[in-house]
Amino acid sequence: MPDRLQLCRSLLFVPGSAQKRIDKAANLPADAIIFDLEDAVAPGEKNTARQRVITALESGAFSSKQVIVRVNGLSTPWFEEDIKAMVAVGQTAIMLPKCESVEDIQTTKSFFNKAEIPLFVIIETAKGVLAASSISNALTTLDSMCFGHVDFAADMALNESDASAGVIYHSRCQIALAARAFGVLPIDNVCLDVSNEQAIREEAILGMKLGYAGKLCIHPAQINIVNEVYTPTLEQVEKATAILAAWDEAQQQGQGVFVYQNKMIDLPVIRAQESILKRFQAANK
Ligand code: COA
Ligand code: MG
Repeated sequence: MPDRLQLCRSLLFVPGSAQKRIDKAANLPADAIIFDLEDAVAPGEKNTARQRVITALESGAFSSKQVIVRVNGLSTPWFEEDIKAMVAVGQTAIMLPKCESVEDIQTTKSFFNKAEIPLFVIIETAKGVLAASSISNALTTLDSMCFGHVDFAADMALNESDASAGVIYHSRCQIALAARAFGVLPIDNVCLDVSNEQAIREEAILGMKLGYAGKLCIHPAQINIVNEVYTPTLEQVEKATAILAAWDEAQQQGQGVFVYQNKMIDLPVIRAQESILKRFQAANK
């Protein structure tokens, strides 16, 4: 898997122990499937879940999908077996939970045997948030940085986990900034509200405004909403195309700045339009 995952608007968690949900995931429209071996799997189910994920990967049912496996954390008795098994079976990126330091990344990557495997780290502790920029600097542009707001809320001894307020919101901003500063893809937190369409839409819109490239999902009903929020609209695409055409004309006349529909256009505005077209094309491949 040499390239960074191509499109990462919606990334659906699927517990590795839940065979029915694994089967269902093969036909869901998420941009990526995250088989979970960590928090969604009870201690007594760890070995079964690992084996079920291996079988799913080897079956070929996910060969046209982008797959990520969330292994158990570095301090657990399952980490080494999880990561060795997933690197051996291949066809999957790796997600490391509770990443807190550059050493955590180095240890994890030492199991990759020099293979170019995209690494998704989850920042979900106070220590992790404080180290976010050094962690991001130690990642490559193949990698992604996710925010895990529920574990973070617990680590901060908070009574609730509202991702739009207080220190959770602050950290959500920090992680997007730290990732973008080093060309790493930022992925927004899950929305626990599985049956409230308005809640997931509002959360996704806020995450996009913070600079995130996509969002972790936990339920099939969240996927299309997140995909829609993270896909530029036709109106945005038409406007971007028109601005780029006007820019070409201005360039030919030797102008670096001009006014389009009462707004100033210069190079950073052009870069934003190019990004809109690129994201639209990636979503419609
Ligand atoms: N992946 C694949 N399929 C899923 C799914 C998921 N994450 N969540 C639900 N489904 C399926 C169900 O199996 C059910 O399928 P069916 O209609 O064919 O029977 C359908 O979608 C509707 O599910 P629903 O009954 O609304 O949900 P549920 O009560 O079965 O499950 C959760 C709710 C939260 C337990 C479940 O969505 C889940 O496991 N989510 C992921 C949890 C996780 O991995 N957490 C760790 C990261 S925070
Ligand atoms: Mg967790």
